[in-house]
Amino acid sequence: ARHVVGIKVANKTISTVLHDFEGAQIADHDLALEKSVFGANELAEKLAEVIAGLVDKAGLDAEDISGVGVGIAGTVDALQGFVYWSPSLVDRNLALGQVLKDHLGVPVFIDNDANLVAVAERSFGLGQEHSDFIVVTIESGVGMGIVIGNELYRGNRGCGAEFGHTKVQLDGALCRCGQRGCLEAYVADYALLREATVAGGNPADDKVENLLGAARHGDPLAKSIVDRAGRMFAMGLSNIVNIFDPELIILSGEQMQSDHLYAEDVIEAMRKSVVQIDKAGPEVVVHQWGDLMWAQGAAAYALDEVSELAVSGI
Ligand code: BGC
Ligand code: NA
Ligand code: ZN
Repeated sequence: ARHVVGIKVANKTISTVLHDFEGAQIADHDLALEKSVFGANELAEKLAEVIAGLVDKAGLDAEDISGVGVGIAGTVDALQGFVYWSPSLVDRNLALGQVLKDHLGVPVFIDNDANLVAVAERSFGLGQEHSDFIVVTIESGVGMGIVIGNELYRGNRGCGAEFGHTKVQLDGALCRCGQRGCLEAYVADYALLREATVAGGNPADDKVENLLGAARHGDPLAKSIVDRAGRMFAMGLSNIVNIFDPELIILSGEQMQSDHLYAEDVIEAMRKSVVQIDKAGPEVVVHQWGDLMWAQGAAAYALDEVSELAVSGI
């Protein structure tokens, strides 16, 4: 039987899913990571380990895998299998697709993680009914996937849809990409925790859930940090609307953060920052799937690519 594996390389976990050629999900398997930044070979070994676990769980053999799709954060040229920069990798400018292929011995297709969330929405989720939509994700970073005419829009070098690094502040907060004033430097998990620490709060256990919980229970410091992030996020979303005027925006990410940053008042603030016309703006929906969704998108991507290889007879 022929199958594909979809993988999401997340911050401190690798999530995987196994699909058959009809797109049905057969098994899933996660691996917790003790750190979040890897060398290419090291990452390849981790992926080999988790795939072995997945295949085993499904009662299959390595030969049953026809291809692997991998979603990873950062600027990825999917067509070339090339990563310019990723917060999950030590090195820049890596032919990661080839490294993984050499290790795993099957065709490997890599793409930006949030792009593959958009693929998941298109294949299995809220995008099924739409040919044009935008996905925005928040968790360790802020990601985006753009679908136009049922196709992912990746940009000239494959590095488009980097919503997290759109600038919202001159000489602003330091981002994990190395630049300043990026949206995610105000909105992502690490940004919220950093602000809490600077302000003398104590997110001692380093968990953004706790900060968000404290904000929900009215803790003034936590609330001010989270509210500001919400307003920044609204500003960013209004930029998307002003540029694309999309029909649909799908907000996706981890449960806790969603409660706040995807709240009605944030969406309302977005609507107020959009250039005003006498017609309703985009539908904004929240879709809370977990890491598995990202992996499912990777599987759908791998299946597409594997089918193309078959058609072109390679
Ligand atoms: C990266 C994106 C990624 C997002 C979510 C951002 O920091 O630049 O490429 O999609 O995080 O992981
Ligand atoms: Na993207
Ligand atoms: Zn940045």
